Amino acid sequence: MKFPKDFYWGAATASYQVEGGIENCDWAQAARDGRVPECGRSCDHYNRYEQDFDLAKQLGHNAHRFSIEWARIEPKAGEFNQREIDHYKAVIKALKIRGLKPYVTLWHFTLPQWFVDQGGFENPKAPEYFARYAGKMAAELGEELDGLTTMNEPMVFAGLGWLKGNWPPFKQFSLVTRFELTNSGSRSMSRPSVKFSHYFTYRKVVNNLIKAHRLAYEAIKSEHTHLKVSLVKHIVAYDANWNPLNKIWASVQDNFFNHSFLRRVADSCDEFGLNFYHYVKYGDRPAFEKSDMGWEMAPAGIYNALKTLWKYKKPIFVSECGLADHDDSHRAWYIEEQIKGVIKAYEEGIEVTGHMYWSLMDNYEWALGFEKKFGLIEINYQTLERKIRPSALVYKELIEKYSEIE
Ligand code: BGC
Repeated sequence: MKFPKDFYWGAATASYQVEGGIENCDWAQAARDGRVPECGRSCDHYNRYEQDFDLAKQLGHNAHRFSIEWARIEPKAGEFNQREIDHYKAVIKALKIRGLKPYVTLWHFTLPQWFVDQGGFENPKAPEYFARYAGKMAAELGEELDGLTTMNEPMVFAGLGWLKGNWPPFKQFSLVTRFELTNSGSRSMSRPSVKFSHYFTYRKVVNNLIKAHRLAYEAIKSEHTHLKVSLVKHIVAYDANWNPLNKIWASVQDNFFNHSFLRRVADSCDEFGLNFYHYVKYGDRPAFEKSDMGWEMAPAGIYNALKTLWKYKKPIFVSECGLADHDDSHRAWYIEEQIKGVIKAYEEGIEVTGHMYWSLMDNYEWALGFEKKFGLIEINYQTLERKIRPSALVYKELIEKYSEIE
């Protein structure tokens, strides 16, 4: 089995998690308020991106997914910062010079402070504001790209911000107190406001996110029709054994967490990005070991996640899939198994066009700070030295093994 020459292999990052020096967004404000850990200079990727892309190339990648920091581009409502736009143009150029296809995400969780001050995604005007930014970026970057992703994991953003309450704006739906989501940090630090009514605000936010994506789709297309517009969705792959009750329960959850959102944006997506971390099986559950995040390690479940998303018959690129593994003892196995899952889906006719590991380098894992190590490249946060992990070389071999030779 070989993937065609235009199959893309690489890794992903997100602006706030790696760049450093971003102070005018909601997460930076939350850190100043002591509700999430400080991000500070992070990996200083903003200044060291060329060095990082050299490493990605050296690791055999031919693509890279990254995000643009909205707060840098539009520090005040309607005012765009040309110097920052030029920065991201330089980033795209640096990728292309090295033969890495850029996958650009316009928004990955962090929001400009002015936008949040006006109510963030609770504000009925939020979709328009987002589309204005998306249109501007399409106009500025469109000629250099063949696609743009509007947003990353909108349901995770809304769920952790308005139901769970451990991410900005720290609103917690009262029934959720009993559940723990392992990647959301400690409640004593985030100090959420707890109310039953936050559920209704959550619904409003989800609706505004859907509208924002749709309007952004129009805004991007009106600048450049050639741009393929996508949305990156976190898919939990639900599975069940023979038991009809388990099957029903799996499909109820699949509908709630995956399709209730997807079916409302599918018409305005030319392709989808898939972020895969969780496989959940009801009945006859194998005993999976857990990662440093406390998540079950079931990489082959990416096959089920791809099948879930393929319902919409749009090409899919794996936009994230990876493991927190501080001593690099499971990562190589994990990557190999996940690639096997992708191959299985591909051979069954699912149109998969690329595979981005999360993440190129260790980074700021949101409310958990810098402790979790997802990187193919290890970062020493004191010296900012980069060090390639052995599993990154295994990924390189797998890329060579499964790619058609030019
Ligand atoms: C997010 C990343 C995050 C990763 C690991 C994804 O949900 O897009 O920002 O670091 O998962 O938790």
